[in-house]
Amino acid sequence: MIYFDNSATTKPFPEVLQTYVTVSEKYFANPSSIHRLGGEVERLITKARQQIAELIEADPKEIVFTSGGTEANNLAIKGIAILHEARGKHIVTTEVEHASCYESFHQLEKNGFDVTYLPVDRNGRISVDDVERALRSDTILVSVMHVNNELGTIQPVQAIGKHLQQYPKIFFHVDNVQAIGKVPLKYKQSGIDLCSFSSHKFHGPKGVGFLYIREGVSLSPLLTGGTHERGLRAGTENVPGIIGMTKALRMILEKSRSEMNQMKELNSFVREQLTTMESVFINTPKENSAPHIVNFSVPGIKPEVLIHALEDKEIYASTKSACSSKSKAVSRILEATGHDYERASSAIRISFSFENTLNEGKQFIEVLTELISNLKKVMR
Ligand SMILES: Cc1ncc(COP(=O)(O)O)c(C=O)c1O
Repeated sequence: MIYFDNSATTKPFPEVLQTYVTVSEKYFANPSSIHRLGGEVERLITKARQQIAELIEADPKEIVFTSGGTEANNLAIKGIAILHEARGKHIVTTEVEHASCYESFHQLEKNGFDVTYLPVDRNGRISVDDVERALRSDTILVSVMHVNNELGTIQPVQAIGKHLQQYPKIFFHVDNVQAIGKVPLKYKQSGIDLCSFSSHKFHGPKGVGFLYIREGVSLSPLLTGGTHERGLRAGTENVPGIIGMTKALRMILEKSRSEMNQMKELNSFVREQLTTMESVFINTPKENSAPHIVNFSVPGIKPEVLIHALEDKEIYASTKSACSSKSKAVSRILEATGHDYERASSAIRISFSFENTLNEGKQFIEVLTELISNLKKVMR
């Protein structure tokens, strides 16, 4: 099997699964319980929070555990909007955000907020100048993803954050879900106020993630009903998930240092080969893109047909992002880049992990070449 769908989700590391099981068995007590068992679990969470903070160079108080990336994004965006709306109801974002942000903005629009969606260029990138031009006296939040989940395009978040430091009253949120372990980012130095992470994108358990909230930034909770997470996220903690995620984060950051060359080599090989294929157009830019995502179109062939044909050969890839891959609509992201309907509706995304090898890349290209040739013959 060749698994090239790591942007949708990753396979949990075996060590993480082991930790998950051990914690579920031994530390099942509720961390809020005042007895000894509860105290032990509470200490485990405190330690995990410290470790995560250390790994992303933050303070433990700046970490709020959530149920994943979707919740972290919702909490950041709506949490700021709800608490700070008296100061202004304008938000700046991009046309290419993940649905968990995009739909949050739509919901806020229905509630009287004004949202500016910045356009992207052919590569799916916004410009810092456009961010500057969009700012108004009533802007309270700028929210920009770091790595796009469909294209792999890296947004200039560091430059935007530095620029926004001239506007201390505007909060800056970054969806870092696709970037962690692949594209480094200095959160503090980049002027980021809020940053979202999801465990299952870096070989951790599903249903857990966290939001970095810079010290001094206040926001409204979305889930109420307890004092968990300093009152910012009520609900009994997903203890095995949190401890497993902490292990996965440490492991992915280590692999990112030691195994990045292998991933880059695989990426270059696949790109070079796709470039030589007549009916294939690469949508992921060569510059300013993450090493784990390659998006390409094969106009004239329905992407779902190609995905299932690849699947018959035990190769797993995606059409659009996992959240919207079942809808037949053309990719909103590729449309935003200005590509025509044919190209925007025939995109395939392959996404790597550090486990993937160059040999898998070679097999993929061989199979793809054959499949495209066969499918074109059938369609003639
Ligand atoms: C960029 C981006 N943000 C947010 C999410 C949502 O994360 P989760 O699946 O943990 O809810 C995803 C998942 O696909 C994503 O790719």
